[in-house]
Amino acid sequence: MKKIYAINCSPRKNWNTAKVLESALKGAADAGAETKLIHLVDLKFSGCTSCFACKRKGASTGMCAFNDALTAVLEEVCGGDGLIIGTPVYFGGETGMCRNLIERLFFPALSYDDFSISMAKKRFPIAFVYTMNVPEEMSKNMGYTERFRLLPETAARLFGDGKPESLFVCDTVQFSDYSKFHAGRFDAEHKAKVRETQFPQDCDKAYRLGASFVNK
Ligand SMILES: Cc1cc2nc3c(=O)[nH]c(=O)nc-3n(C[C@H](O)[C@H](O)[C@H](O)COP(=O)(O)O)c2cc1C
Repeated sequence: MKKIYAINCSPRKNWNTAKVLESALKGAADAGAETKLIHLVDLKFSGCTSCFACKRKGASTGMCAFNDALTAVLEEVCGGDGLIIGTPVYFGGETGMCRNLIERLFFPALSYDDFSISMAKKRFPIAFVYTMNVPEEMSKNMGYTERFRLLPETAARLFGDGKPESLFVCDTVQFSDYSKFHAGRFDAEHKAKVRETQFPQDCDKAYRLGASFVNK
């Protein structure tokens, strides 16, 4: 049985990013896979410490040598058959937690001898889910399409079949009751409508993405 993982890089375990990832894993489970959702917020871990153990001659394994709470997660997902990484957009980038994860997951798989090869122990597809407050049109105008291309492309090159995969979930609801927050720039009614109409469609896309991972 295939094992498909999702990693939630939002500090919130039950909000937009988590929900989309749950849909992706439901798709994978319905297609016959075993699934697991990992919340990074539960783990105390650091980013790359630049120790270069992963580049040392005779010692590099394709895996990060630094030992902390992320180590077991990296071992587990790198033995799996697919990974979906979900992150909210924070200040036009991935969350800090997501960046730390990526450094530890990607850097050991990157060869300093030959950029065209991969040091990854095993190949498996990796997709990225980006959830964000801005509507789709604004996300395009702000250059998010280009900005969030690098990590899916790198993942596809180092771990996958060369074809980058990502899903943008735009215009997300940030709190359940907008009237209780200083958030005058946002239209609560519009947000509620998007949540009712667009968000379920985004979850459907995630469901199909998860299912597609089982047949790769
Ligand atoms: C610190 C912080 C920074 C944010 N920066 C952005 C941003 O630059 N662009 C954007 O579209 N949304 C931004 N957002 C909104 C979140 O990306 C969005 O609501 C996301 O769906 C939240 O994911 P979650 O519900 O899983 O936590 C920000 C939210 C926070 C808390």
